Amino acid sequence: MSATVITNIATLVTNDPSLRDPDPLGLLRDAAVVIEDGRVVWTGASGQAPATDDRVDAGGRAVLPGFVDSHSHLVFAGDRTEEFNARMSGRPYGAGGIRTTVAATRAADDAELEATLTRHLAEALRQGTTTFETKSGYGLTVGDEARALRLAARHTDEVTYLGAHIVAPEYADDPAGYVALVTGAMLDACAPHARWIDVFCEKGAFDGDQARAILTAGKAKGLHPRIHANQLSHGPGVRLAVELDAASADHCTHLTDADVDALASGATVATLLPGAEFSTRAPWPDARRLLDAGVTVALSTDCNPGSSFTSSVPFCVALAVRDMGMTPDEAVWSATAGGAAALRRTDIGRLVPGAYADLVLLDAPSHVHLAYRPGVPLVAGVWRRGVRVV
Ligand code: NIG
Ligand code: FE
Repeated sequence: MSATVITNIATLVTNDPSLRDPDPLGLLRDAAVVIEDGRVVWTGASGQAPATDDRVDAGGRAVLPGFVDSHSHLVFAGDRTEEFNARMSGRPYGAGGIRTTVAATRAADDAELEATLTRHLAEALRQGTTTFETKSGYGLTVGDEARALRLAARHTDEVTYLGAHIVAPEYADDPAGYVALVTGAMLDACAPHARWIDVFCEKGAFDGDQARAILTAGKAKGLHPRIHANQLSHGPGVRLAVELDAASADHCTHLTDADVDALASGATVATLLPGAEFSTRAPWPDARRLLDAGVTVALSTDCNPGSSFTSSVPFCVALAVRDMGMTPDEAVWSATAGGAAALRRTDIGRLVPGAYADLVLLDAPSHVHLAYRPGVPLVAGVWRRGVRVV
């Protein structure tokens, strides 16, 4: 494959860890980036860029790493417009709505699920997402969970088994029986298709002991844990995540000081999902508190038909800056390098030699415009593995 150089970049966000102190974004001004065989091979001053066959003039605009959306639920059917409408008329959000999507997903054939998944992926790509994680969790039978993971694995390596989303309706009177299924036959059928195991640790879903049993069983099958933790109330999820060295504790909306201390002392990333608070009118997670404690923070969409039906990372960046105490620089880092950290990856979320050439060109002179110009479609170009796809 021939090389491409993108020149005349007013602001290049590299997230180069060697520049992290004092500049977490590793910004280069008036810069260029060279990509070859799907990887970044050079970054530096635009005037010093090597000549290549293919030259793209960024026109004084900004380039940043493609967004890493490390938390989504994209294998589903149906929608929950009525539930959203009711919520916006004052009804609270609860885990129960998941059952509506479970029924629709079970009833859908593979082609329908695939078409919906593909549509939302294309939507995310147009908004700059070049890596995404996605989960099962709307099947809740052995066959339906394995099917969701098989479909997801056609599109991403970051596939998460979430058989423990809620107790399946058939097991409403036998939650222990459902945990046995999730850690037994369902795990056996799902583990070959997934990299991660997740559990919704929350009142109305799974308690701390159940979550521990499920994640430990997954680990024994070679899956690595991540947790839906402390979304709707205080609970043991975040501390369990750190104890089990989960890659990520997701939501982190209701935290005690002990939770924050635990995150600060471990390697677990706190993944904040402001689309969920926006769409459920819940209190915002306090990103400032986590950052000031030294916690690594990721920002993702949680795209799902119930609590957060947005595929837009730029929207989440704008919310995080406006309402969660993050600076624009912090939010952009969290949506790129932070997402990569939540997936324990160093080959994405940064533009340094050797990393994948996943890039976003903005129709703006700097990344700050993602928060400064909320709701404006600023993504002017996307390269994935060195290939221009938008
Ligand atoms: O991350 N919290 C659990 N799961 C999803 C919501 C799923 C749904 O409401 O359908 C979440 O917000
Ligand atoms: Fe989620």
